[in-house]
Amino acid sequence: MRTQVAIIGGGPAGLLLSHLLHRRGIASVVLESRDRAYVERRQRAGMLEQGTTDVLRESGAGERLDREGLVHHGLELRFGGAGHRIPLTELTGRTVTVYAQTEIVKDLVARRLEDGGDVRFEARAVEIDPAAATVTYRQGGRTRTLEADYVAGTDGFHGVSRPAVPGVRTFSREYPFAWLGVLADVPPSTDELIYAHHDRGFALHSLRSPKVSRLYLQVAPDEDLAAWPDARIWDELAARFATGGGWELRQGPITDRSITPMRSFVAEPLRHDRLFLAGDAAHIVPPTGAKGLNLAVSDVTVLARAFAERYASGSETLLDGYSETCLRRVWRAEHFSYWMTTLLHADPHADDFARRLQRSHLDYVASSRAAATSLAENYVGLPLP
Ligand code: FAD
Ligand code: DHB
Repeated sequence: MRTQVAIIGGGPAGLLLSHLLHRRGIASVVLESRDRAYVERRQRAGMLEQGTTDVLRESGAGERLDREGLVHHGLELRFGGAGHRIPLTELTGRTVTVYAQTEIVKDLVARRLEDGGDVRFEARAVEIDPAAATVTYRQGGRTRTLEADYVAGTDGFHGVSRPAVPGVRTFSREYPFAWLGVLADVPPSTDELIYAHHDRGFALHSLRSPKVSRLYLQVAPDEDLAAWPDARIWDELAARFATGGGWELRQGPITDRSITPMRSFVAEPLRHDRLFLAGDAAHIVPPTGAKGLNLAVSDVTVLARAFAERYASGSETLLDGYSETCLRRVWRAEHFSYWMTTLLHADPHADDFARRLQRSHLDYVASSRAAATSLAENYVGLPLP
């Protein structure tokens, strides 16, 4: 079997790339190791930059997003028992939208299949030849080969694409904490997201709909989910969000829970021969700045444009510049995510001096328009390259 672009991984990056290529008349095959129900259920991101919603809308995949996405104009930083609003739209002229990654994946899978796209579930890539642009994969107990002009490695952090790049250089940082994330059938206790810093640890109140809350707690990196029965989760959230003003956290049945390790990671370069890495396969950010999915979208937007130029004119100029173009934006998001993470989490190794500096930093962001604008500009997303 032969195609123009072989895409490994049917997460948001791979599915969107396939959709964007189709819009430009370029054929692709998506190989996804899991089944469709699994990828459509996997709970992850929820906060989209305006640039991300623009890409989805302009590509014709934003109909349900426009109907169901919740547009936000600000967020709250909560510390010392008080809330401080960062007016994102007033400071930047831009908005962000809450729309779950699961919904984007459902929309893109449905759209690819409607358009006659070739998305193969339960098809696991096992070997890539970046020079020949071939992918060997296992499906239904058989081993097959997909031949292509190019290969896009969008198979996430644990995929097979990145290890296929010889001499790849990696940069990373581990953090002494993880996130316990829950989905709960309870109306959100807030209209805007709350990022809370507390001596007990960080907590985030997000949402999925007017009836569903999404909440996160900082926990130890080796935390055992079994040690967190519902009552303990709600007590801990309530303690970390508590204010002097009697704010109350609504509780309800928890329908999904998981623990996510926190890391920063970048692989360079993003191209080797005819293999291109994009999304989590190439870089990871800690989730505090809500950047991972947004970076995956900007990578494949740049990549789709470069393939379009290659097939329209034969020129590889944009493909040659792909790695450098994306890495500039990636490193900005890496810095912002690291910055938000260290601003808001309780570092178990911090001494009193470090804790005083952190509190001063929080006070500064909450009270200085210049500092708040810097947070806001990064949070709503810098322009796509
Ligand atoms: P993935 O979503 O990991 O997709 C990769 C796909 O490849 C998977 O479907 C996998 O099954 C498949 N695959 C793997 N190996 C193979 C193989 N060998 N062959 C074939 N297929 C393979 N980002 C934000 O922007 N905003 C947020 O608010 C946000 N919050 C987050 C909260 C949490 C708790 C977590 C965990 C992440 C969050 N992120 C957020 C990050 C975001 O979810 C990821 O950056 C995003 O999923 C990256 O998409 P991707 O397509 O690159 O990778
Ligand atoms: C969500 C996740 C994040 O990491 C974040 O910073 C904001 C929102 C979410 O899942 O809704």
